[in-house]
Amino acid sequence: MTTYSAPAKIIIFGEHAVVYGQPAIAIPVSDLRAYAEVVTAPAGHGLRIRTEATRQDVSVDLRAQVDDALVEMAQRVLRHLDAAPPDVTIRLHSTIPIASGLGSGASVSAALARALAGALNRPLLTDDLNALVFEMEKRHHGTPSGIDNTVIVYEQPVYFVRGRPIERLRVGAPFHFVIADTGASSLTKPAVAAVRALYDADPRRIQSLLDRIGVLVASARAAIGQGDRHMTGRLMDENHAILRDLTVSSLDLDRLVGAARGAGALGAKMSGGGRGGNMIALVEPSSREGVHRALSDAGAARLWDVVLN
Ligand code: PMV
Repeated sequence: MTTYSAPAKIIIFGEHAVVYGQPAIAIPVSDLRAYAEVVTAPAGHGLRIRTEATRQDVSVDLRAQVDDALVEMAQRVLRHLDAAPPDVTIRLHSTIPIASGLGSGASVSAALARALAGALNRPLLTDDLNALVFEMEKRHHGTPSGIDNTVIVYEQPVYFVRGRPIERLRVGAPFHFVIADTGASSLTKPAVAAVRALYDADPRRIQSLLDRIGVLVASARAAIGQGDRHMTGRLMDENHAILRDLTVSSLDLDRLVGAARGAGALGAKMSGGGRGGNMIALVEPSSREGVHRALSDAGAARLWDVVLN
């Protein structure tokens, strides 16, 4: 049995504005992962996918039109590699919470594609895998910017601008982040649609908010490159304020952001689609425990640490 995997991701700057062509910064969360195990089977078994949640096998047939994201991903990989389904079961499981801005869908798609290419003993170029996962993101999100699949597939911190070549983020010193889950799941698509509706109603006002996010993301790239934690924290606070103006924060997110700041975080903001899901705080290693405690007391359902270096 061989296991393949892909990480979770978190956006530290620029969500939503990235959909409109502004830059964003995101990093992989390598401790949270989706896994795909390949279990070989006798001839005639065909390709089956089993998820931990349903514990049921779904057969993948190249021609069948099925409304199942995993089957569709497998079909895309088979077509891309011009291959017949191998005789294997691919078992999927994941430690990434779903619908909370950590990229669980893209990560599961990437792990599945890697496992299938591995089962076929065929190389799948990273750029091609990225394009295939992006196609699946369209199914989940409607008009995705492409940031989730990029960070997850390359497993690198990135400064991302839609349609531009991937730029690896330069990191001048370690940055310690705490991620806190509100426990309220939230889908990205309606949050993106809500910003679109605001934009359509008042393009000038919303464009100026999006432009401000773009400027602060560029400053954040410089601050991270210089290892300037204080500046990076301030920019996170500013970014959160604009996301609130864009109506994608929530009472839970604001409470956690306030709790982290009150416990000494250098900065804190919601992350991802918003209206639930996760927030992220930048901490000094010495204040990490206090921030953890404050976030738990403020109702965080789960906490994770991630270091950018
Ligand atoms: O909710 P998440 O973390 O999957 O990210 C969505 C990020 C958005 O900028 C809101 C949408 C996008 O496609 O970039």
